[in-house]
Amino acid sequence: MPARGGGPAAGQDGMTSAGRRPLVAGNWKMNGTRASTAVIEAVRGGLTPDLASRIDVLICPPSTLISTCVQAAEGSPIAIGGQNLHAKPSGAFTGSISAEMLADLGATYVIVGHSERRAYHHETDDGVHAKALGARRAGLCGIICVGETKEEGDQGRALDIVRAQLAIGIPKGATARDTVIAYEPVWAIGTGLTPTPADIAEVHASLREMLDKLVGEEAGRIRIIYGGSVKAGNARQLLGVENVDGALVGGASLVAEDFLGICAAYA
Ligand code: 13P
Repeated sequence: MPARGGGPAAGQDGMTSAGRRPLVAGNWKMNGTRASTAVIEAVRGGLTPDLASRIDVLICPPSTLISTCVQAAEGSPIAIGGQNLHAKPSGAFTGSISAEMLADLGATYVIVGHSERRAYHHETDDGVHAKALGARRAGLCGIICVGETKEEGDQGRALDIVRAQLAIGIPKGATARDTVIAYEPVWAIGTGLTPTPADIAEVHASLREMLDKLVGEEAGRIRIIYGGSVKAGNARQLLGVENVDGALVGGASLVAEDFLGICAAYA
């Protein structure tokens, strides 16, 4: 079973020039059956020791597959995470899953406040904050997602939106062990559209500045990853942008070859 807490371990090599170890994370969303463990096995087989020494690799399958994926990834560098959690540890919340339950299965990360949860399940920034606290309570690393909609972007409000989402969502005293930030512009998710490298650089720099204000010295160790139509063909360009510490990958994480092609941006 992987060690508790998904954040970067001190002293590992493969750090970016900023000293942060890249994270390439796959979000399978509502896709996959038990046969999908073949993807984990293929990713495991395709990750060279050299690449695995440079980056953290994470797959977040549907909760039904966490247990089988943890087994398939056992003894490999691949961590397994959840896509959502309930903020409370247990109770009368039919259909919900707590951070403790995810950790019990061997998950070490959990995605918090993905835009699809915000849009389809009415998740608020305060709710995201409570869930991030829940993740920390159970020893999981919460990947807190922020991102503007197309309309907000068109109104020139992208920075205001993501900074506010970050400020409310992130728990006090966040550390690199319990927190990753993912910038996912809503309009770039599943559309094949991506911001320009200059636009990504501007948002990530702004989020990093905000992180500095919110958590002080530890901010420099917290990773900010990018998500939204990351593919093997654009990964090198997008992941090469300053202050981009990895990727949160949807569609391209469902096919091992495509996901490995993204990881290879760090080869
Ligand atoms: P796509 O990579 O399919 O655009 O999805 C991004 C995403 O939402 C990851 O969480």
